[in-house]
Amino acid sequence: MRILLISHAFNSLTQRLYVELTAMGHELALEFDINDSVTVEAVELFRPDLILAPYLRRAIPEAVWRRYPCLVVHPGPAGDRGPSALDRAILRGEAAWGVTVLQAEAEMDAGPVWAAETFAMRPAAKSSLYRNEVTEAAVRAARTAIERLPDYLAGRWRPQRPLLQPLLPLLAQAERAIDWQHDDTATVLGKIRAADGFPGVSDELFGQPCQLYDAREFAAGGRPGELLGRAGQGLVRATVDGAVRIGHCKRRDGLAIKLPATQAFPEAAALPALAADDGAIRYWEVGAIGILEFDFYNGAMATADCQALLAAYRAAQARPTRVIVLAGGADFFSNGLDLNRIEAAASPADESMRNIEAMDDLCHAIIETGSHLTVAALRGNAGAGGAFLALAADRVWARDGVILNPHYKNMGNLYGSEYWTYLLPRRVGADQAQAIMRRRLPMGAAEARALGFVDAQFGGTGVEFIDRVLQEAAGLAAAPDFAARLALKCARRAADEAARPLADYRAEELGHMRRNFYGFDPSYHVARHHFVHKTPHSWTPRHLAAHRELGWRVPETA
Ligand code: COA
Repeated sequence: MRILLISHAFNSLTQRLYVELTAMGHELALEFDINDSVTVEAVELFRPDLILAPYLRRAIPEAVWRRYPCLVVHPGPAGDRGPSALDRAILRGEAAWGVTVLQAEAEMDAGPVWAAETFAMRPAAKSSLYRNEVTEAAVRAARTAIERLPDYLAGRWRPQRPLLQPLLPLLAQAERAIDWQHDDTATVLGKIRAADGFPGVSDELFGQPCQLYDAREFAAGGRPGELLGRAGQGLVRATVDGAVRIGHCKRRDGLAIKLPATQAFPEAAALPALAADDGAIRYWEVGAIGILEFDFYNGAMATADCQALLAAYRAAQARPTRVIVLAGGADFFSNGLDLNRIEAAASPADESMRNIEAMDDLCHAIIETGSHLTVAALRGNAGAGGAFLALAADRVWARDGVILNPHYKNMGNLYGSEYWTYLLPRRVGADQAQAIMRRRLPMGAAEARALGFVDAQFGGTGVEFIDRVLQEAAGLAAAPDFAARLALKCARRAADEAARPLADYRAEELGHMRRNFYGFDPSYHVARHHFVHKTPHSWTPRHLAAHRELGWRVPETA
């Protein structure tokens, strides 16, 4: 089938559907929902069998839904209606929630249902539920809906109209507001989680209006609403029955991008330090396996994060274990350099350079590890440098639903580093390496496995995945030929080093990066600016809009 995705952005759910439906043999194209006439034009060019809207902020034009089956993914159970579905479910403390694929009609979220799935809720941020439970349910529901299309067209199956709930409006900030004098910790956490990563909860810190994100319970207490101190880069604020740590804020004045709270508010330096770090890096052992988790917000790794992770990695290396598992975070393995903190730096070019050097130092330490076998375990998605960080490990294992974006070009034609010029061809061959770097599109775990970008993929939830990783890693550690494997790895590394030193790869990559950061072509700085400020799209890039490719024609049989 030809399936046109119409979406506000190529977000994680849209990418996942793009990958899954392509793998099922469908012909996919995407058009950003920019305005009605652009959507109508895209439909006329592509003449899809089906239109699927995974993430919309506006209604589909009538001229489109009257002529084509248009299915909308709604993050709520059948009958639920309105734009803040998941936010409201979190605030209400629902124990179970759902995803519905429904047909677009004049009235919002009122069309007949093609497929619906349910899932158990978790006490987690909206963005985390969206990237995990909602995405998995949406993929299942979209598959079911698409399988029903032939029967629908032949008149053998009709979607049913659910019992409709009232249409609830966009959740206003007034309804999200925290009442610091009365709200307990659970309520504050619920409110911030229901608004994370977008739009955040409007509040005030140091007398300045701002949005709050990334909250955790913190063991402290004080006068309700009082700022008690700093914990890593977060701020600790008292509730009526305890305290929360607020990790990220967006000020409304100045740069107005999401930053670690203490960076958004330098005044915080005067507060006492209640905890030395953010708790993003955790290390534990199971038998001969050391597990190093690094759960940085949004998978973004700033200079200091890379340095802290390198120190933790060195400590893990010093342990009498055999295998080190790099477990990334629950939602993201890594998304590479922290573009927000780079944007906020006095010199974004200098900070980009420092950040990539710190990232390369980390990759270097992993590649050069002679004492352990290393495994990168991707529970969540990885993009740009974060995807190549995984390749520094000896083995790369990914959860089934993981989406990889192993390329840098989308960020203003960045050349990239992380020793990718060494790591990628070594894994997939020179031709495939070039193809991967050029193609700009997301890749599913199955395709990554087929290409050799990852070595294995397992199914299940993040927790089930880590359990399986531990089993497999235990097998590696206990293998009778462990010593021989380690020796082979070291011999191979020594031979590679003799053929071309790692320092050479790094110098060449960083030569290109220096041009990206300091050269006359500002593409990277422009792309980063648009990325961190979330500038709305004004056109759909050609690599996504297949129907806009020169020479694209609707096949004769259509
Ligand atoms: N630095 C800072 N923030 C980042 C980031 C990075 N490297 N990568 C992702 N984020 C943020 C996004 O801004 C977004 O923020 P929000 O919480 O305010 O919405 C959040 O993480 C989720 O990102 P999103 O783009 O919605 O995730 P996705 O899964 O849909 O897409 C990528 C994943 C990797 C394609 C996309 O995030 C991306 O292109 N990131 C930039 C990667 C990069 O170029 N890194 C620098 C070079 S190494």
